[in-house]
Amino acid sequence: MSNKTMLGDASGRGAVDGFRVTCPAMQHPYTEAEIDAVVKVMREACGQTQGKYMVEFEQAFCAFTGAKHAFAVNNCTSALKMAAIFCHIQPGDEVIIPAYTFCASAIPFGDLGAKIVWADISPDTWTIDPDDIARKITPKTKAVVCVHLLGMPCDMKRIVPIARAHGLKVVEDCAQALDCRIDGQHVGTFGDFGCFSFHSAKTMTTLGEGGMFVCADDADAAAAPGIRHNGCCAYPADRARYWSPAMSCVDSFLDDRWPQNFCIGEAQCALGTEELKSVIANNNTLIEQDRKIREKLAGLPEISFSRCPENSRYVVHQYIMHYDGSACGKTRDDLLDLMTKKYGIRCIVQYYPLYRYPLFQRKGCGEFDCPVLDKWWDGSFSFPWWCGMDDAVIDTLCSSLISAVEELRG
Ligand SMILES: Cc1ncc(COP(=O)(O)O)c(C=O)c1O
Repeated sequence: MSNKTMLGDASGRGAVDGFRVTCPAMQHPYTEAEIDAVVKVMREACGQTQGKYMVEFEQAFCAFTGAKHAFAVNNCTSALKMAAIFCHIQPGDEVIIPAYTFCASAIPFGDLGAKIVWADISPDTWTIDPDDIARKITPKTKAVVCVHLLGMPCDMKRIVPIARAHGLKVVEDCAQALDCRIDGQHVGTFGDFGCFSFHSAKTMTTLGEGGMFVCADDADAAAAPGIRHNGCCAYPADRARYWSPAMSCVDSFLDDRWPQNFCIGEAQCALGTEELKSVIANNNTLIEQDRKIREKLAGLPEISFSRCPENSRYVVHQYIMHYDGSACGKTRDDLLDLMTKKYGIRCIVQYYPLYRYPLFQRKGCGEFDCPVLDKWWDGSFSFPWWCGMDDAVIDTLCSSLISAVEELRG
């Protein structure tokens, strides 16, 4: 089995033999226009990085999200690392991060020596709980990371004022939330920094990897190209000797921060500009699939769903539900045993609470106080999920789940 297939399996998106419902092998079939955009850059073959296609992509991204400044990078983990660098994280600083998320939301902060303080989730949205943020702020807290997990918006209208009252930076992890909005405002533009992913499992992908860092502050924006590319940025064009002391500047605006190389190639950027055009339509398809599933499962009291806050656009990045079998003494694992073995539906369990991972425990981040997540997670599971499921697939998934839940009632 190739490594690529294994990664697909781990995220629940790859096709797996022997099950009645499998994700299509090609999750992101490219349109001819998208293929042409990449081939055009290949034919031009000039300046394959940091050129006009990157600038075009960044401008298109600002127009799409309303962000003031955008910087294309090689993935969202890099964008999060840029955010951590701009937060000036020093060893011992505390950063509040939801424990229910993908590990990349936390690793860039831990890597700079932050003490990670795990926040609990809200029981209805399953995103970071604003009250728990407020409870966990100490004089050492420097930043809070809000993850719009599964494309569900965090309660930014409550979180930003709490953070501002304590002088904290607000980082928004929007890896799964392109086109997710609150009152029409795009997530990633409420706090100080927004970080987006174009990994192949996301709504749009720039050939498998890619990301975007957005920020509001002009001084941060002036430093971002240097942080992104080893401190390199252009000297003013009007120098008498353009070559002196060197062709590019290697420390302007960096202060005490080490720069990185997070650049992304021109072909990926050209594709990104093209892909942005179909994001809204693809999300509308996912939202409609979600509506149908909720309708079909509405009669099962054991199964619950997240609740989207009013006036918000939830873009349904994965399909996670919760099973409560306590009335009949059954667990999520009993349900998944039936779903996989009897009904041939490969449900999966995603986003282990991060404090349970040996990685975070070894790094001194194993302490936690997240009673809602700890209880809720043990009942969570997800359906296979992709954009463009037909009604027959939705019927198979839902009728199997209804039968399995009824069977467990005994
Ligand atoms: C919530 C979240 N944050 C960050 C990342 C990291 O994104 P990337 O793979 O682009 O580095 C992911 C990727 O799946 C994610 O789901």
